[in-house]
Amino acid sequence: MGTILVTGGAGFIGSNFVHHLVEHSDHRVVVLDKLTYAASASSLDVLPGERVELVQGDVADASLVDDLVQSSDAVVHFAAETHNDNSLADPSPFVRTNLVGTYTLLEAVRRHSVRFHHISTDEVFGDLEYDDPAKFTESTPYNPSSPYSSTKGGSDLLVRAWVRSFGIDATLSNCSNNYGPYQHIEKFIPRQITNVLTGRRPKLYGEGRNVRDWIHVADHSAAVELILDRGARGQTYLIGADGERDNITVLRTILRLMGRPEDEFDHVRDRPGHDLRYAIDSSRLREELGWEPQHQDFESGLTATIEWYQENRQWWEEQKAAVETGYAEAGQ
Ligand code: NAD
Ligand code: DAU
Repeated sequence: MGTILVTGGAGFIGSNFVHHLVEHSDHRVVVLDKLTYAASASSLDVLPGERVELVQGDVADASLVDDLVQSSDAVVHFAAETHNDNSLADPSPFVRTNLVGTYTLLEAVRRHSVRFHHISTDEVFGDLEYDDPAKFTESTPYNPSSPYSSTKGGSDLLVRAWVRSFGIDATLSNCSNNYGPYQHIEKFIPRQITNVLTGRRPKLYGEGRNVRDWIHVADHSAAVELILDRGARGQTYLIGADGERDNITVLRTILRLMGRPEDEFDHVRDRPGHDLRYAIDSSRLREELGWEPQHQDFESGLTATIEWYQENRQWWEEQKAAVETGYAEAGQ
């Protein structure tokens, strides 16, 4: 396929995907990333310069995007504002990056007839009751709860409209909660690991009964590569690895694996509008494209993730105090 433009490739999932492409393909990768607070250019440092180029820039910059898309064979679009709590405090960058940024890319791939894969989230479907036997499927109606998830839902609809009206060659995927290395410490799992590593008490929103459907980021990367290669034009694929767990169970597991008492944490203010439960039915991806997750042992994935944060303190340590000050100001 030649050159792949990866937007948001200095963020958590994007950088893991770039590592995956370097390891599992011959593609050249150009990363377009604004390098916001959520990015870490150093996540790409160990990769060979002749395979990976980092361009600092905004996906809403039409001229830059046009140049980069024109010289690419495919675009995988990860770039987004991604943290629900931030979207409640200030939705504006979410609207600009997630909606205007996606629109800007769509116009460029339309002009230059370039293959496009759009990365999205299970949060576009809203949430499920705890006892609902149903899971999200590709035909679940959209019902997003937060400014973040509504802008992601809007971006998905833009992609579908550009497929239908302009015939662009695009696919979409909606994945559940990822965990693994290089995840920003504002997010639940790395926040709690780094709380323990810095002598702070972990923080659980509300009672911690909310359920997330955890998938290792390496399984997400493999699924995206497969969809990019073999996905049907215009099709949406849900990505999930049957990893439903409530937050209090995940937190107690982290504490146990780190040798701490399982009740050594604080309950803090709950997130307004907090989605109760996500659960993905990934049958289409498994049956039509033959994808299977390879990292379903959550405890061993979590152990490796804890070790990664222990061994890579320089990657996160400088940000820790400021992240926790921000949370403390919000009562979380
Ligand atoms: P992240 O916050 O770790 O990284 C986002 C990256 O996008 C950062 O490097 C940031 O600098 C970049 N970015 C932000 N605004 C930009 C702009 N205007 N122009 C260019 N770059 C910009 O996010 P993540 O968790 O890696 O999520 C990546 C994608 O996957 C997002 O689209 C997100 O909605 C989706 N997703 C995430 C999860 C999850 O569990 N984290 C699950 C499903 C889907
Ligand atoms: O489902 C996919 C989504 O997963 C992605 O689209 C988002 O980009 C990604 O951020 C993630 O969203 P969540 O809101 O589920 O992730 P977060 O890590 O913020 O929180 C996970 C759960 O843990 C959620 O129920 C809130 C809770 N939580 C979070 C933090 C940061 C806590 O209990 N304590 C915390 O300190």
